[in-house]
Formats: sequence, C-alpha cells, structure tokens
Amino acid sequence: MNVIDYLRISLIDRCNFRCQYCMPEDADLDYIQAQEILSNDELISLIDQVFRPLGFSKFRLTGGEPLLRKGLVSLVEQIASHPHTQDLSLTTNGYLLTDLGRSLYEAGLRRINISLDSLDANVFRQITGRNHWQKVWSGIQTAFDLGFNPLKLNVVVIPGVNDQEILDLAALSIDRAWHIRFIEFMPIGNMDLFTHKGWVDSASLRQQISDRFGLESSICLGNGPADVWKIPNAKGTLGFISQMSECFCDRCNRVRLSADGWLRPCLLNESGQIDLKTALRSGVDFSQLRHQVQELLNLKSEINFKEGDRGNNTNNYQRTMSQIGG
Ligand code: GTP
Ligand code: 5AD
Ligand code: SF4
Repeated sequence: MNVIDYLRISLIDRCNFRCQYCMPEDADLDYIQAQEILSNDELISLIDQVFRPLGFSKFRLTGGEPLLRKGLVSLVEQIASHPHTQDLSLTTNGYLLTDLGRSLYEAGLRRINISLDSLDANVFRQITGRNHWQKVWSGIQTAFDLGFNPLKLNVVVIPGVNDQEILDLAALSIDRAWHIRFIEFMPIGNMDLFTHKGWVDSASLRQQISDRFGLESSICLGNGPADVWKIPNAKGTLGFISQMSECFCDRCNRVRLSADGWLRPCLLNESGQIDLKTALRSGVDFSQLRHQVQELLNLKSEINFKEGDRGNNTNNYQRTMSQIGG
C-alpha cells in the first residue's frame, strides 16, 4: 500500500479567472456559503490534531484561487513553521503574486506552481477569460526573483487552442530554472470543451520537443504524478502529467480536503468522502476523527479511480477543479 502523507487543501472554491476548461464565464456554479468554509483555526486544528498524527507531513494549498483567501499569509506561516512540515506548496493562477509573493515567502512558503497556458496574450485571454497575461507574467518573475524554488508552470494542453505553443513553452526551461509541466486535459469541468477538442497525449508532446531540442530523463522535484525530463543543458525541467494516457492512480499518495471540509480520497471518485467540518463543529473528538480518517485511508486503494472507470464515471467528472481543489 502507498504511504499517504500528502494533503491537498482547497482554501476557497471561487476564482478571479474563468478558464474555459475549468469554470467558463457562463458556467452555473453553486458556490460554498461563507459560513460553510473552514476557518484558519479549524484548518489548523484538523491538520495538527488529525492529519499530522496520522503521518501527513506534506501540504498543498489550492483553490479555486487560494490567493483570494483572507488570512492566507497567516495560515501559511502556521503550517510552514511547524517542525513536522516536510513540504508546503501552493497552486495559483499567479494573478495576485506581484502583490502577495513577498509576504508568502516571508511567511515561509518556498515553492509554488503557477498556471500558464499560453505565451500569447490573446490566446491567454481566450483561455482564462481575462486580459491578464502581463500581470501573471510579472507574478511569475516576482516569484522567481523572490527565490521560490522549484518554480513550476502548469500548462493544460488543449488541441487547437494552445498546442501550437508547446515548443515555445518548453523553451522557457532552457535559460532559467523554471519547471514547465504539460498536463493532459481531463474531462473534469467543461465537458463540452473536452468533447469538442479532446486531449493530446504526453508521448506526442515529448516527441515534438525531442525532435527540436533533444530530451533526457531527469529527476522529480515534488510529490506529484509528473514524469520529469529535460532539454540537454537546460536549467529547468519538463514534467508530463499524463492522467489520460497513463493511469498513475496506483502511485497515488494524496487525499484532498475541500474548502467546506469534505475529505475526498480521490480526485475522480467521491465515494467514501467524510464531512470533517460537520463532525468538528458538532464536537466529535479528535481521536474519533482520526479513526474515521484512518479508515478512509485504509480503503483508499479500493476507492482510487481505476482505468476501467474512465468511461462510466461521468457524474464525478462534472465537478470542476475549482470545486474539488485541483
Ligand atoms: P508537485 O509535483 O508536488 O509540485 O505537485 P502536483 O503536480 O501534484 O501539483 P499541481 O497542483 O500543480 O497539480 C498539477 C496537476 O496534476 C493537476 O492540475 C492535475 O491535473 C494533476 N493531478 C494532481 N493530483 C492528481 C490526482 O490525484 N489525480 C489525478 N488524476 N491528477 C492529479
Ligand atoms: N484538466 C486538467 N487540468 C486541469 N486544471 C483545471 N482543470 C483541468 C482539467 N479539466 C488544472 C489547472 C491548474 C490545476 C489547479 O488544475 O490548470 O494547473
Ligand atoms: Fe481558476 Fe484555476 Fe479554474 Fe483557472 S483552472 S478558473 S485559474 S481555479
């Protein structure tokens, strides 16, 4: 059985972008009510009293857009300063990094993954619904200059939308220690777009990149499912996250906590999830909560998404990453 020691915590389900693949402008989303969102104190209690004693030492803060969360800097400080935190990272769209990057670094955050689906401001606007390429680019520079390391840039590859930019995006890894990750588009969120456009497999991206620059295998920096390669002599690396062409669920080491306190064993399958917020607020004691979470962990390998589920699990796919916590 895999060691499950990595908790992905969604801090908020709202976002200031409207990525076509996630929550397009006209999507009809039910947002979580403010009073249902776990407070910082509740989150810290769950982390310290439930997750750490069960062996969790790696944490990722996600959203929606986590930089929209009030009290983020103090939360980061509390998690980062704990002696048993082995890894703390954050996944963001980068828009607010020019404003918040320094405070986050000073609070102890050392690594960030930022979405960057295009180098062309018009394509970026088409994908994200926002004219914010320049500000995100400045956010990436700010994060790099502050010393966030490794600095990873996530690209969701969508045929006919940004797949003509693969070589330009890959080239970003040559002169700077930027780690570019190409993610196969998953049928989560905007099913219409997925059905209409489809996805590109990582092997064909690697072939394109290898033909142009050469490619060699590299070491993994992180806890994630990326296969890591590099262009010879490049300062950064290229990661390929291939959840469509190559099921990596058997190596899965994580569970997810939603902003309203549901603990989910798998991104793609919600069976077995536990409502930790209601239990916590109704005074269930921590030893009981630990017991419930441990039971969920024991069952996780059975609950994990299986290759054969791909075709018949469309209900779960209808949630967006902003709701599940990418
Ligand atoms: P690190 O390598 O530790 O930096 O983490 P990561 O790659 O898990 O983090 P990130 O938040 O950047 O996730 C990148 C992408 O990986 C997500 O957008 C998903 O597409 C994919 N991913 C992350 N976790 C899972 C998972 O549990 N299951 C599947 N199928 N895909 C995942
Ligand atoms: N398929 C693959 N990746 C997705 N993300 C959001 N929706 C999808 C999808 N349908 C990614 C974002 C970001 C991370 C949080 O999730 O690009 O990198
Ligand atoms: Fe926001 Fe991330 Fe979803 Fe884009 S993918 S809309 S940045 S939550």
